Order: sequence, then structure tokens, then C-alpha cells
Amino acid sequence: MSGPDRYDKIIELCRRRGLFYPSFEVYGGVSGLIDYGPLGARIKVNLLNEWRRFFVDSSPDLVYETESPLVTPENVLEASGHLSSFTDPVTTCTSCSRTFRADHVLEESGLLGESMTMRELDEAYSKGVVCPVCGGKLGKPAVFNLLFKTSIGPYASSAGYIRPETAQGMFTMFRRAYEAVREKPVFGLAQIGRVGRNEVSPRQGPIRLREFTQMEIEMFFDPEDPSAGVPSTYEDETLRLQVAGSSETVSLTAKEALEKGLVGSPWLAHYLAAGKRFVEGLGVEPSEQYFLQVPPGKLPHYSKETWDQMVRVERWGWVEVAGYSYRGDFDLVNHARHSKSDFTVYKQLREPVKLVRKVVRWDAGKIRRLFGAKTGQVIAKLKNLTEEEINEFSKKGVLEIEGLTLGPEAISLSEEEYEERGRRYVPHVVEPSFGADRLMYAMIDHAYTVREDRVVLMIPRRLAYPSVGVLPLMAKDGLDVFARQALLKISHAGFTVTYDEEGAIGRRYARLDEVGVPVAVTVDYTSLEDGTVTLRDRDSWRQVRVSSDKLTHSLDRFIHGGEDLESLGEPLNKEG
Ligand code: GLY
Repeated sequence: MSGPDRYDKIIELCRRRGLFYPSFEVYGGVSGLIDYGPLGARIKVNLLNEWRRFFVDSSPDLVYETESPLVTPENVLEASGHLSSFTDPVTTCTSCSRTFRADHVLEESGLLGESMTMRELDEAYSKGVVCPVCGGKLGKPAVFNLLFKTSIGPYASSAGYIRPETAQGMFTMFRRAYEAVREKPVFGLAQIGRVGRNEVSPRQGPIRLREFTQMEIEMFFDPEDPSAGVPSTYEDETLRLQVAGSSETVSLTAKEALEKGLVGSPWLAHYLAAGKRFVEGLGVEPSEQYFLQVPPGKLPHYSKETWDQMVRVERWGWVEVAGYSYRGDFDLVNHARHSKSDFTVYKQLREPVKLVRKVVRWDAGKIRRLFGAKTGQVIAKLKNLTEEEINEFSKKGVLEIEGLTLGPEAISLSEEEYEERGRRYVPHVVEPSFGADRLMYAMIDHAYTVREDRVVLMIPRRLAYPSVGVLPLMAKDGLDVFARQALLKISHAGFTVTYDEEGAIGRRYARLDEVGVPVAVTVDYTSLEDGTVTLRDRDSWRQVRVSSDKLTHSLDRFIHGGEDLESLGEPLNKEG
């Protein structure tokens, strides 16, 4: 039998040291729900803040953070299409009555699975698929809606759902936000928040959760000017792209992918490249990630084009950590229709344009003779004909009004020139959407390192929690007093810090290493003589001596500046 793999070891470490573990364990746990413990909750906050810095704060006056509720009324999710389309295929065993994801059962038997359409699944199941638990026959696939349902207040008729994406809150607040940002033609709304998806049978630990944190941006722009405002920052970033239907990846810069038409929108290309850099910053090398285009039959119901960002983790292989979709005007148009609100914006044209429109004219005498007392009503209707009605008249030569068919004897069509100075349109949307919990696991998976039989969690320094460990060599002779003073100074300077005086120094370093604390500050007898302390690098185990006066500045250079330890002070020839 093979021993534990990296996933098993990470799960053991995370449970033991309080990064994450199953929720409600004392009651047997619920799959798909996890708790973050004393260390994990703060590492996750660091990850969320890293995303916030990278995608929101570094785009001032362009991307704005928002917050909206988890509980979402039914009409919102009806308009967004989630009530009818947010489903997974399920199959129930005809012998043991267990229910499974129909596509996952096939995938586990080495067949296609997730990429199959409902019709393909039906066909596969019609040939007979056996239950992975009891060996019975699995039934015909059906669809299962993933929304968690509740009621809002005491009224069963007032249905509510836990939101399945933060996105809808940003679409429904669009008008207010648009006005608040002074009607910018290009702007993004961002949100970090929890969402719920009632997954059928989540079995991949922190990878497939029923409740998780999303980090999303909805970038709104004018579809007639789709490259306006797109920064060139990442256009030379090389992306590995696997186009739908292909089994190979191609490497192209974001700019080339856009020019060659592989990626259909400038904002989409921008965010793919930004997303690659962001994930790389979490410690996932470019060779360990790529973008997989979702084939047309598997696109989310709101999307015209979607790319999944795939990251390799040891146990599960390639997993999706982010999705990038071109949602077009799907959401705003549907919310406009269902809420009867205006989701259009106005733009002034640079140059007025001369256009021709068809107009309907009428013979007032004839209308009066035909409609008598209803004349006023009919004329009002003729004045407000829709474009569709005018085109219908143009095609058929007659128009039905108030039960009568009007032809050329009463109404006629003419063309009229007019000048358009401005135009109303519904903005289009590109959305990068990240799963924070999957990214957290991927980051840990890539950081998990064994050195001399000891675990070192090499997560990026600025994402670690705590950032600094303070250790007196001995808990006596005033070393502990000196160390506690150093701890306060470090904490006041804004670093997260832990103090440990229990056990041999080597064991204490090991305790810090295995949860990824990037630097240890050690107070020894020399500290009492000359006020210096040692800094020990988690990854190289090398140490330098720095003066207490420069301590917080040195920590800042090391943790936030990414400088090598050796640049901070006099090396000690010791590792450990
Ligand atoms: N907003 C995209 C998603 O939730 O998958």
C-alpha cells in the first residue's frame, strides 16, 4: 500500500496546526464545509488582501470594491437565469438510492465526464453505468439545482437563496454605482464575499466546497469601444492557452492572443494576464498553470466566452482556481427586463452622425372616419410605434390597430433624415472570478516542502501569518524581557508576530517553519551586550545579525520588499 501523499500530509498539518479542518466535526462533519483555524483564518485574510491590493487598489479610479448580501430574493436569480440554469447532472442508483454527479461518475471511470453535454450523458447512461458504491444500475441523469433555498422573513412565499456568486449584487446595484463613480464609461465593481452552492457530493476537501469565498470583478465597458481604458501593463505577459476542442496548449502573449482572435475581448485578455501574474505571486510557477477555454456546449448560461485558470495540485491534478467570462450584456439586459428598470447609459458621440429613419404618416381625416371616438388613442399609438412595428409595416404594407387593418389609404411610410448626437447602450461585462479557498489550497500545495525530514511551508512571505516569530534563546537571564520588548516594537510597527520560549531553539524554528512564518528574530546573549538580534530565514535557514534599531526596517525589507536575508546584516555561519 502506498503511504500518504502530499494532500494527506497537508490535511494532517492543517488540522494539527490550525489552518483548516472539517466544520462541525464534533457532529460528524458535513462534506463541503470547512473551518479556518487560528492560523488559517489569518492566512486567508492575507490572501484576500493580496487580491484586493493587486486587482482593486492598484487600479485607483477604475475598480471599486463593494459589498452586497448573501441572501438574495428569488426574482433576482430568476432574472439572472440561476433558477433555471444553475444545475449539475445527477444520477441515482436504482439499488441503493445513493445520488451522484452523473458526469463525475463517468470521469472516475476514465470517461469524459465534466465536458459532456446532457445529451451525451444520457447516451452514456443509456448503455448502463454501475453504481460506484453498490454496483447496482445508475438511473437516467437528471438536473439538480445548486441554489440553497431559504425564506426571507416568516413568509414561505417570499423565497430567498444564498447567492451562488457575488456578481449579481454588483449587477443589481449597477445604476447607483455608475452614478457614484460619476458615470464613467469604463469602470469595474469588485467584491470579496462568501457564496453557497449545494454541490451534489463534494469529495475533494477544500477544492470543492458548498460554501466558499469568491473574489470577483465585473468590468463594465462600451461594447462599441471595447479597448477603451484597458491598461497595457500585462499585454506582453505570455499565456498558455488551450483553445476549446484542442488537446494542446499554445503560448502567446496576451496581446498576440487578442490580435489572433483566440481571446475575444481586450478586457478578457488583460485579466487573463493579470490573473496569471497574481497566481504566480502566490507561488504557482507559470509551468504549473494554464488557461482552458470552456467549449460552447459547456459555457455558463450567462457567458459568451469563458476561460478557466487551471493550476496543478499534486492529489487532484489540474483544478480550476478562477474563471474569466465575457458576460456581454446578459445580466444587465435581463435585470432591466425583469425589474423594469433602466440599465442603459448615455454616451455623447464625438461627431454627430446623420442617420435616416422610417416614419409613419397618417391621414387624420381617414383616421377620424375609421375610429370616431377612439381617434385620439389611435393617433397616440401611431406616434409611438416601436421600431419592430414600423419594420412590420414596411414589410407587409399594412398595420393592425384597434382591431382594424390600416393600409396605404390611411397610413404611409416615409424616410426622414436626423442627426444623432448621443446614444444609449447597455454596457458589456468581462468578469474575472477567483475562488479564494482553492487558491489557498493551491498556494499551500505549492509551498509544501520537505527539508532534512522537516516540513517547511514556503508560502510567499507577505502572505504568511504570523509574519515574524520572536524567540529568546533561553527564557531567563533577561533574554525573555528583551525578546518581549522586541515583540512589542515589531507589533507596533504593523507586523503580525508570535512569541515562543518553549523547548529547544531548533524545535521552535521547526514549529515556525512548518506553518510558513518567514522570519524568526532570536534574542541571545550577544543581544544583551550590543543590542543586536539575529534574523533567520525560513527557507534557507541562514541567519544574519542586525541591530535592534534597524529591526523593523530590516523586517519590512525582507517581508514586503522581498530582499535576500544576506542584504540585511552580518551573516552567521549557522543554519538550523
Ligand atoms: N461569477 C462567476 C461564478 O460564480 O462562477
